[in-house]
Amino acid sequence: MAQTLQERLKDQPYQGYAYAYPHKTAYRHFDQPIPLRQIWDSEDQSSLYLYLHLPFCEMRCGFCNLFTTTNPGEDIVSRYLAAVDTQIEAAGNYLTSGARFTRGAVGGGTPSFLTLSELETLFQSLDKLPGYAPQVMPFSFELSPATVTEEKLKFLVGQGITRFSIGVQSFLEQETKAFGRPQKLPQVHQALETIRHSGVEVMNIDLIYGADIQTTSTWKNSINEALRYEPEEIYLYPLYVRPLTGLEKTGRTAADHRIDLFRTGRDLLRENGYEQISMRLFRKQDSAITGGPVYCCQEDGMVGIGAGARSYTTGLHYCTEYAVGRNGINEIIADYSCRTLDEHSHAVYGCHLSEQERKRRYLMKSLLRIDGLSLADYRKYFRTDAMSDFPELNDLLQFDLARLSKNSLVLNDSGFERSDTIGPWLFSASVTSKMENYQPV
Ligand SMILES: C[S@@+](CC[C@H](N)C(=O)[O-])C[C@H]1O[C@@H](n2cnc3c(N)ncnc32)[C@H](O)[C@@H]1O
Ligand code: SF4
Repeated sequence: MAQTLQERLKDQPYQGYAYAYPHKTAYRHFDQPIPLRQIWDSEDQSSLYLYLHLPFCEMRCGFCNLFTTTNPGEDIVSRYLAAVDTQIEAAGNYLTSGARFTRGAVGGGTPSFLTLSELETLFQSLDKLPGYAPQVMPFSFELSPATVTEEKLKFLVGQGITRFSIGVQSFLEQETKAFGRPQKLPQVHQALETIRHSGVEVMNIDLIYGADIQTTSTWKNSINEALRYEPEEIYLYPLYVRPLTGLEKTGRTAADHRIDLFRTGRDLLRENGYEQISMRLFRKQDSAITGGPVYCCQEDGMVGIGAGARSYTTGLHYCTEYAVGRNGINEIIADYSCRTLDEHSHAVYGCHLSEQERKRRYLMKSLLRIDGLSLADYRKYFRTDAMSDFPELNDLLQFDLARLSKNSLVLNDSGFERSDTIGPWLFSASVTSKMENYQPV
């Protein structure tokens, strides 16, 4: 039986990160390959998100369960880039003349692991994607400190990248070591300087809290060090020790003072003029970030390119198979790299979303952000009433985690810090059961 909110509130707050619903562990093989043309034909393609996944890193961090492999040979990368090119050609067969990308992100892994010449190859392929308009869309690119060079950043800004996001995690080498991430501090500062001088519009720094050796004072020190670079955005990630990661294998656990560290971080960022956008994301208030064309993350589609990249349509989410273990990931990358054009034109793995699941997804995507759930937008989209569809939302009011006005349901500070409790509480029984029965590759 699903746990009630009251039961969940008795437990520690960090119960699961609902950044994508349904989670990949709820995906399964379809009975038959589904032609992408059939899926995309009935979709509104006028505002799409492009997500490109590069599953390569120079190290495997102890906390990380992302879909990535370490130090691939040049041949593996070049075969992968050739497959990206073929997948883009396949996209040309289902994207219509009205297709338009209004947001983009290159993530991983560590996309900056690629050499300059590999990046050039990649962007030549992207230029062939119908509706690709890098000069008008906010376009993000992920970096790690050791792989940043002035040359690469200059090239990327020239290609229309508007946001660099870099993983720093901590400004203390002792702590990054405890996170299982070998990282040299001078290299971190060098990379941050290079980003700041690259002319990019938005710089984001990722930090993690929850290593057992981390104290309030070392955590404040890391945030203050990040603030010296005046990043437009900062992400504060609570540490999760996930199955099959290095930290889990060595028996490490996340510290149970994460909530105190979170509050310290949130208050410090607010004092420094940052606004909380979600539990993890803080944005500098006076930064003039260009919004870009309208894109609605609850409703609009996503085209994922690369192994591990998800694609979202109204009723179907799909991607390549998912794995965390090294062998499983390498097999999936190898399989992706030799797919034919026809294979790239079909979806074989993912999940169908019923109307009820679409409503849940809409709820999570809205409620866990600062603007909250607009009751009018929900009604316009689904033609039903959110509070009647999900009467359990009243529990948020009962436990003083949200406020309800005529137009919206918005989390308060207590609700925001419980985002990782509220998210999993909103998962349907069927998705939860699929996630629990997932067999890791
Ligand atoms: C793709 S990485 C960022 C770019 C680059 N690969 C790097 O690590 O520098 C995504 C971010 O997710 C966060 N993250 C990943 N796994 C996590 C975990 N188990 N607990 C907390 N944060 C995590 C880290 O802050 C990391 O920077
Ligand atoms: S945190 Fe970043 S660098 Fe480390 S393994 Fe994950 S994706 Fe790679």
